[in-house]
Amino acid sequence: MSVETKATNIVWHAHAVTRTEREERFGHRGATLWFTGLSGSGKSTLANAVDAALWERGVRSYVLDGDNVRHGLNRDLGFSPEDRTENIRRIGEVARLFTDAGIINLTAFISPYRADRDAARALQKEGDFIEIFVDCPLDVCEQRDTKGLYARARAGKIPEFTGISAPYEPPLRPEIVVQTAERTVEECVAQILSYLSNSGALKP
Ligand code: ADX
Repeated sequence: MSVETKATNIVWHAHAVTRTEREERFGHRGATLWFTGLSGSGKSTLANAVDAALWERGVRSYVLDGDNVRHGLNRDLGFSPEDRTENIRRIGEVARLFTDAGIINLTAFISPYRADRDAARALQKEGDFIEIFVDCPLDVCEQRDTKGLYARARAGKIPEFTGISAPYEPPLRPEIVVQTAERTVEECVAQILSYLSNSGALKP
C-alpha cells in the first residue's frame, strides 16, 4: 500500500548545516538501529540499555518506542495490517530525519511485516539502517508476559495479537541477531556495541 501525495507546490530546502558537519562535531555518524521482534522479546529493554551505554560515551542517541509513539504521533492507528504498515512508514520517516540530524536513533517496534521494514530501510543510505532481530521464542515471550497481554490475547480479549492471531515475519538478512532467551541484557548490549564499533558508526 503506498500513500497518496496530497501536498502540491512544495519545494525541498537544503539545510544550512549539513549532516557531515553535524557528524564531525558529534564525533560519530547518524544511524538507525531498527529493533524488531515479538512483544515481550526485549526490544525496548535492549534499545534503552544500548541508549544508556551510548549516552555514557557521549553519543547523541534517542529511543523511539512503539508503545510511547502510539500515545502521540500514531495515536490514530490501531493494529490492523494497514495501520501497522502506516505506523512503520511514519517511524521509518522519523528515523530517517534523526539519522540526517546525526543522531543514533533506536526504534523499538514489533514491525512484523518484512516489506514494511524493507521500505523503512530503503529510505536510508546503505549502512545507515542496521536491522536488529530480537530473536526470542514465542513461548518465552508468553511466559514473561510482562504486560499481561498474551494472557488476554489467548482469552480472545485482544484481536490481531502478534504471534497469537496476527503474523510475525522474521528478518531474512538482519545485520544483527540477538538471542534474548539465551543471553543476558549485558551480553546483547556488548554484541550491538561491538557491531557499531566495527562498522564505523561510532566514528565520524
Ligand atoms: S507494530 O506491529 O505496529 O510494530 P508496535 O510496536 O507499534 O506494533 O506496538 C506494539 C505494542 O502495542 C505491544 O508491545 C503491546 O504492548 C501493544 N499491543 C496492543 N495491542 C496489540 C496487538 N494486537 N498486537 C501487538 N501488540 C499490541
